[in-house]
Amino acid sequence: MSSALSATALRPVVELELADTESARAGERIAAALPPDGLDPDREPGILARIGAEALASSVSGALIGELRGFPRSGAPVVVLRNLPRQAHWPSSPTAGWCAERELSLLNALHMGIVQLMGLAPYAVEYENAGHLMRNVVPTPTATGTTSSWGADTEFFWHTDNPHLDFGEPGSDPRPYVPRYLTFTGIRNEEAVPTDVMPLPYLEQTLDPDLRAALAEPLYDVTAPDSNRAGEARTGVPLLDAAGRVRFDRGHTTATGPAGVTPLARFTELLADAPYESLVLGAGDFLAFDNYRTLHRRVGFTPAPPGRARWLRRLYAG
Ligand SMILES: [Fe+2]
Repeated sequence: MSSALSATALRPVVELELADTESARAGERIAAALPPDGLDPDREPGILARIGAEALASSVSGALIGELRGFPRSGAPVVVLRNLPRQAHWPSSPTAGWCAERELSLLNALHMGIVQLMGLAPYAVEYENAGHLMRNVVPTPTATGTTSSWGADTEFFWHTDNPHLDFGEPGSDPRPYVPRYLTFTGIRNEEAVPTDVMPLPYLEQTLDPDLRAALAEPLYDVTAPDSNRAGEARTGVPLLDAAGRVRFDRGHTTATGPAGVTPLARFTELLADAPYESLVLGAGDFLAFDNYRTLHRRVGFTPAPPGRARWLRRLYAG
């Protein structure tokens, strides 16, 4: 992990790692609990989550499990977990965006199990990813030139996911709102393309009081991202509200009127130089971050040959 943040500042990224023996034991327990044909995450998410959570809780140190359980209330917006069990076989990276989900049952059990341990629920939204839970973050030819999780060549500048929606409150149905947590697992990443995250404390350090105040005014319009079928928009909203929640997507954020033009331009400029964490996720890695308090970015890259391109899995949780 690299960081441009000074060593004295708050470090809002929780970094955890399984010991090799813990990882092997958890992998064996999941493999033993799964049916031979695997499970479908859209139809059987609760069973996958239970298998993964039980295997981890019975194989991994209580301290690490305690960190996972406490993450949503810890105040840290980002958690990284390394050295998870790997599947014995990984399919080729899908070139059309979709894959045979049952072949990823061990990974799905881990992914959903970690989400369950964190006290969160996975969910799908009907307006995106065709209503499926698991999103393959993988280059597809149809997304060339777009800022999409299926793109590669175009930089996906600092943003939050679905910033055109309202913020949800804890305990409510998460689906109509800005997704609260984005969670990822890695399958392959031989291109070593990082997922860059900018937790809000990093951003706050770089904002001067005038700009902070201007961003908290309802001076901006935010429209839906390309991957989203909902044509909704928010007009006259702040980008950084009083509760410390951020919404932003450069290509989909404009000033409502003249008063928002300069702050928006300054904010965009500042983001290009603000400190961040650069996380390279591959097989065995998990990442979760609070999408209300973290911006994320993926720089443009040249994918490895078909079947071997960078492949991550994303799941919304709330
Ligand atoms: Fe995103």
